[in-house]
Amino acid sequence: MIIKEAIEKDLPSIMVLIRSERADGREISYNQFLIAKDKDEIIGCVRIKELDNCLELGSLVVRPQYRNMGIGGKLVREILIKDKRRPVYLLCLAQMASFYSKAGFNEIDIGLAPDTLKKEYSLVGSKISGKIIVMINP
Ligand SMILES: CC(C)(COP(=O)(O)OP(=O)(O)OC[C@H]1O[C@@H](n2cnc3c(N)ncnc32)[C@H](O)[C@@H]1OP(=O)(O)O)[C@@H](O)C(=O)NCCC(=O)NCCS
Repeated sequence: MIIKEAIEKDLPSIMVLIRSERADGREISYNQFLIAKDKDEIIGCVRIKELDNCLELGSLVVRPQYRNMGIGGKLVREILIKDKRRPVYLLCLAQMASFYSKAGFNEIDIGLAPDTLKKEYSLVGSKISGKIIVMINP
């Protein structure tokens, strides 16, 4: 398994992976992504997306048969090593807090998030059942 920056021709496979989990597929550009590959097949992805005035980590997906092997955690840690810009925000289910805290994210109150992220929060909250939280890697 290798982790590398995506290139343009990876985009169709990334889209398939993202759609398989109904993850965020809006405003996609290949250069936002880090991917995990096994035998030339894309088995995981994550991206940092620029919103109006903030950065959001998201579109994190690992193919089901490759889960619980540390690949998701590695993708998150590596994209933060490659991209030094901070702060980076994310929205996730509350049950994912401990997963992201291992990569240096802390939960914050939605009131402290930038306005664009507040809009995302409302949108995600209306689509997903379960408690959504905001986390920041400062
Ligand atoms: C989340 C995801 C990317 C993790 O990938 P992975 O390669 O299995 O991640 P890792 O092996 O590094 O870590 C697995 C850990 O995440 C936890 N985890 C994964 N999904 C979880 C969930 N929905 N709720 C709570 N914990 C979860 C596992 O329990 C495991 O915890 P442990 O380390 O304490 O045993 C993968 O499960 C996935 O693609 N899920 C569907 C899409 C998704 O939910 N994306 C995240 C949106 S915020």
